[in-house]
Amino acid sequence: MPIRYNPEAREFHLYNDSFSYIIKVLENGYIGQVYCGAPLNPSRTYPLLSPVPFHGFSNNFRSTPRFEYPLYGNGDYKYPAFAAVFENGSSVIEPEYAAYQISIGKPGIPGLPSTYIEDEEEACTLELELFDAPSGVRLILYYSIFTFFNCLARHVRIINGGKRRITLKNVMSLNLDLPDSDWNLVTLTGAWAREFQATCRPLAPGLQEISSLRGISGHEQNPFLLLKRPGTDEFQGEALGLSLLYSGNFLASAEVDSYDLTRLRMGINPETFSWELAPGEFFDTPEAILAYSAGGINRLSQDYHRLYRTRLARGTWRDKERPILLNNWEATYFDFTEKKLLEMADTAVSLGIELFVLDDGWFGSRDDDTTSLGDWVPHTRKLPGGISSLAKAITGKGLAFGLWIEPEMVSPKSRLFEIHPDWAVGVPNRPRTEERQQYVLDMSRKEIVDHLFSVLSQLISSAPISYIKWDMNRSLTEPWSPSLLPHRQGEFFHRYCLGVYDLYNRLTGAFPHILFESCAGGGGRFDPGLLAFAPQGWLSDDTDALERLTIQAGASLCYPLSALGAHVSAVPNHQTGRQSSLAFRAMTAFFGVLGFEQDPTKLHSDEKKKIAEHIKFYKAHRALFQQGCFSRLLSPAGASYAAWMVSSGDQAVVGFYKLLSRPNPKPVILRLRDLDPAAVYEVSVWEAGGFDPGDREGNCGFRGGDELMRGGLLLNAPGLDHPMTGDFFAELFLLRRQEPRVTGEIA
Ligand code: GLA
Repeated sequence: MPIRYNPEAREFHLYNDSFSYIIKVLENGYIGQVYCGAPLNPSRTYPLLSPVPFHGFSNNFRSTPRFEYPLYGNGDYKYPAFAAVFENGSSVIEPEYAAYQISIGKPGIPGLPSTYIEDEEEACTLELELFDAPSGVRLILYYSIFTFFNCLARHVRIINGGKRRITLKNVMSLNLDLPDSDWNLVTLTGAWAREFQATCRPLAPGLQEISSLRGISGHEQNPFLLLKRPGTDEFQGEALGLSLLYSGNFLASAEVDSYDLTRLRMGINPETFSWELAPGEFFDTPEAILAYSAGGINRLSQDYHRLYRTRLARGTWRDKERPILLNNWEATYFDFTEKKLLEMADTAVSLGIELFVLDDGWFGSRDDDTTSLGDWVPHTRKLPGGISSLAKAITGKGLAFGLWIEPEMVSPKSRLFEIHPDWAVGVPNRPRTEERQQYVLDMSRKEIVDHLFSVLSQLISSAPISYIKWDMNRSLTEPWSPSLLPHRQGEFFHRYCLGVYDLYNRLTGAFPHILFESCAGGGGRFDPGLLAFAPQGWLSDDTDALERLTIQAGASLCYPLSALGAHVSAVPNHQTGRQSSLAFRAMTAFFGVLGFEQDPTKLHSDEKKKIAEHIKFYKAHRALFQQGCFSRLLSPAGASYAAWMVSSGDQAVVGFYKLLSRPNPKPVILRLRDLDPAAVYEVSVWEAGGFDPGDREGNCGFRGGDELMRGGLLLNAPGLDHPMTGDFFAELFLLRRQEPRVTGEIA
């Protein structure tokens, strides 16, 4: 069992091959954080690592140790993990360790997404119970350590076992007090169309935090952070990751105190949260996943990838290869007819595309973004036969059919809003803020979720639909719900999020064959919470390949390639005006779930030929791209080159990208990863990349895995007659393991 309890030391040691997490019951009855890092011998105890009080001003018996779940108002003066208000107005609570339970397996969390296991041996769970005798409140801290991932899942349940109501104000999913602050903090920041920009800063005394107050996780900050030691890079050094399975207002903070201790917290944002718990009721926090790597950031990412791809994503589409889709958004925007769509579909089939997705503008009288959200009935001028006839015509051509919806929204100009103006979120007698000319439906209300389930079920059942793109194109304003009493309005945001999960849960349950792709103006709600329902997400509205290198590399810090929707779009690019070659665009989009977002009928015949080749190539390597082991080799951020690769046991694809061309360039040595050092690989250049493979003779041929990982590919080398390729140049190398092994070639 990978959790041990030592009753003398009162120490709990959670471990697997690469990770130890140790906590203990302190003298004062609290739980202290002892160690989180590379593995320690689980048969020993670690009294000298235990937190000890430091001398300082206003000392008390709880001064500055490392608390596992710090509380408000009792002598630990950093930001707490938990605060509640009791009937007398006090927030003081002093729950002491009461009991523990260790069990094989991992529990789920009612109403919330969580990682899961398929075999009991995959995880082991510690439940620590803390009890506050005066109030009767119990806190259960859950820790599930995975056997095959260097990850620890945590969440907290608060049970009101007393006789009075309490109001929760702050319930972090995770707190982690670390013994030093010698870390850099990496977060994923950005804005619409430039999400997932990895930002790095050294920890400094005081508080540094990322958060959302928008009702969605947001384009601005992703609910993910990592700490890395100053010397850590992709392939060496310590790194610690925190990721929250939550799609609403979150907070993740790092607080460095006067003794250089670091407190990490992650959970629902307390700023917009309160929750009343009646006697006998309980509240569960979302799950947070802590990951640790002693071997660099890339390793940490790979653990998140495997965990999220195989034990967070679920259902029919989890392990299935995802279809190559054509989305009509950038091709037509709102301006299409059935005839136009069918023409596009004809060309799409001839290129090898597998799924046709009809985006925004198919319903009500929606000819622009001012109207009809909420009226999920076909736009009869554009689609005289409705969705059913279009879907049948498209599936009749051999393509699957998919549809865009934006369930959580209502346009002020819509039938739904005429009938139910009170369904839109807003405060009575105050104006509602329009964003993109639309309001948000109050997903905290069950009757609204019921209505959406019924309408969308009918829609989905009415036609051969096998894919849904679920969009969400604005943040929330004027948060208030008539369904909540005045003193419970602080529950609104979390209840909204629970309503979204409820609808997702019902729809994915009722239509298990449907592949859901989440979207919120691109990456505005791209988080692990939604990955539990929609195994892929539209990462960004920015389809420019150069930009995408940074966006996809940033997202890959936490999210697997199988989750990253990546489309080839037309040039000049609609977001940046940039021109780049088809090969560059395709070779970037390959490292994700490939799609197209342009009008195929407008392509020249040579472009069609190339795209057909690209699609053929992607299909042949799709499992590798979507399920292989991904490594970032060269980061595009502020660099002249980028490179990444995916590998499985038998093959690998390496993508090398030159961003801006320089005269008389210096060579680039690209050391590969995740190969078998004892194996021989045949290295070739993908010919459809547009360049003569003869140019790459210096890299191609039979080469040892050891040579490729330790010596590497030599790129851009003047001695290799590297052609003058200009800006935005990409090439792909294919590696095929040779069987039987070529002997005598490697030492
Ligand atoms: C959002 C999405 C786009 C597209 C439009 C339609 O911006 O991110 O892909 O679906 O909405 O309005």
